[in-house]
Amino acid sequence: MSEDLFPIPADWAAHARMNQTARAADYRRSLDDGDAYWLEQAQRLDWITPPTRASDSSFDEADFGIQWFADGTLNVSANCLDRHLAERGDVTAILWEPDDPSEAPRSLTYRELHAEVCRFANVLKDAGARRGDRITIYMPMIPEAAMALLACARIGAIHSVVFGGFSPEALAGRITDCDSSIVVTADEGRRGGKRVPLKANVDAALALDHCTSVRRVLVVRATGGAVAMQPGRDSWYDEAMAGVAPDCPAEVMNAEDPLFLLYTSGSTGKPKGVVHSSGGYLLWASLTHALCFDYRPGDVWWCAADVGWVTGHSYIVYGPLANGATTLMYEGLPSWPTPSRIWEVVDRHQVHTLFTAPTVLRALMKEGDHHVAKTSRASLQLLGSVGEPINPEAWRWYHGVAGEGRCPIIDTWWQTETGGAMIAPMPGATDLKPGSATFPMPGVEAQIVDGEGAVQDGASEGNLVIARSWPGQMRTVWNDHERFFQTYFTTFPGKYTTGDGARRDEDGYYWITGRVDDVINVSGHRMGTAEVESALVLHATVAEAAVVGMPHDIKGQGIYAYVTLNVGEEPSEDLRRTLTQWVRSEIGPIATPDVIQFAPGLPKTRSGKIMRRILRKIAEGEVSAQALGDVSTLADPSVVADLVRSRAGVA
Ligand code: WTA
Repeated sequence: MSEDLFPIPADWAAHARMNQTARAADYRRSLDDGDAYWLEQAQRLDWITPPTRASDSSFDEADFGIQWFADGTLNVSANCLDRHLAERGDVTAILWEPDDPSEAPRSLTYRELHAEVCRFANVLKDAGARRGDRITIYMPMIPEAAMALLACARIGAIHSVVFGGFSPEALAGRITDCDSSIVVTADEGRRGGKRVPLKANVDAALALDHCTSVRRVLVVRATGGAVAMQPGRDSWYDEAMAGVAPDCPAEVMNAEDPLFLLYTSGSTGKPKGVVHSSGGYLLWASLTHALCFDYRPGDVWWCAADVGWVTGHSYIVYGPLANGATTLMYEGLPSWPTPSRIWEVVDRHQVHTLFTAPTVLRALMKEGDHHVAKTSRASLQLLGSVGEPINPEAWRWYHGVAGEGRCPIIDTWWQTETGGAMIAPMPGATDLKPGSATFPMPGVEAQIVDGEGAVQDGASEGNLVIARSWPGQMRTVWNDHERFFQTYFTTFPGKYTTGDGARRDEDGYYWITGRVDDVINVSGHRMGTAEVESALVLHATVAEAAVVGMPHDIKGQGIYAYVTLNVGEEPSEDLRRTLTQWVRSEIGPIATPDVIQFAPGLPKTRSGKIMRRILRKIAEGEVSAQALGDVSTLADPSVVADLVRSRAGVA
């Protein structure tokens, strides 16, 4: 065993629902007797018709398809709300902490949340929403965002949440792809004392020629900021709420009916609409929330993500609410107005478990420990990490400084596609190693394969794949089932390709090494290099662009763009700024390039393929002949020397 082992704390070992032996036995059974295991687990949910079948899934081309609990029916909002009312109606469901710390928090009990969601659902129905319709949600982090999700679930409409940091262009693309008829938004959002013009962005998106599907826009009054309202199309949510009935029966949905779609970046093409199911997804969100975090009634749970990402879906809304938890929603930024804010919120609400991303930890670490030390954090028992590999330094800081050595670190590896945690510790069952997500969750048949797909046993490194379906798996790409199959099941036939590399050590611990494809991870947010490239080439001055990831101290990875200008255009600082701004307005601030290097030519093979390996090395500053490797196969090898020379001026 490695000397870097952090053993299970005695109190966790004594009281957690899963200990080391039980975890191992449970995992074995989940694979050996999967059907029985999953039908038993399915009893966590409140079914209208309990399922009699578990998985009907195959990753093989001949009979490809993924289905779980296919003869079961349920309603997700009833699982998250109604079933708690009898015993836990007065328990706080959502605790809300505003951006501005001088304002009062809000809280809603399960009973109150249920009532609000029923009315919200009726508002949606009045706006014409029907079962199966797509509804786009473009909201700040306020309780109404969670209500909007649950209201869609209640009537069987499919929500598509678009992160509030995306631009009107990006929003329009996501609206159009799924043919959304209704948008739910707010006048403005607030983050770190700044206003985000959400409604104005919606107006700009809907004004684009290609964005024609939306008939109604519902606007929540969040800040009271002035916005334009288009008669016939736009209505204020509070006014609409005043006119509807307080009860709304929950629609009976099949387990396989889509609950939501969520756009995410891949290595090629436009973002894809990842489709999640009602039954399998909810089971996965709820089970992983219970197992990884050993959630107990009464604990205040804080997932500090945005509801615009899958982490917010699964661990702010669906998992915790299905488990009857008290879930904290925070409107603002972890380090505003001061780097102590995140810990002040912990103290204010007596948070038991905090779940955040390594990029946040690295940023806070840099500010100095005194910002942490001046807060109590006595309520904290458990700390979680998600979104990107957590470097051991950040892990040790989180564990030692933030958690004072008392709180296990639950590093959860997963993806938008997987619905919930796939490889993760359980606090009473797993000795920890800093930087390792540890072991697969029940039912997750993780494997490491080499480039040819040969399964590697024991200690090894290679591509991480999953060899069989699990309930929380995405079911398809919206409107493009063929793309779903091609993207995930053809690289290593018969297996789900994660796109991540991983190492397994001699003790069986998994260490995620990062993406092996052209996806980069910027501050825990997924970005397709192809998307940034397409945005750049849309600019009139740009002939060609190639984007790669570069190491970044805080963000994990930064965006490094090589840009070839059209003949007659001159590189300049002004143009660099213009192009940076252009990408922000095409995609959103999260896609802001960290470096733009003007490149007279890009390294290409004789068949015209850009050699990204070389561009990555140059972006990393690895410019020795040895690091760059063989360049003799390039159409024009001199391009490389030019790039290395001109790099000095920008990075
Ligand atoms: C990365 C976020 C290492 C990984 C839930 C994955 C991680 C991508 C971890 C998915 C982790 C996420 N350790 N890497 N604990 N969690 N990743 O779809 O590269 O936004 O493929 O889902 O983030 O990002 P996504």
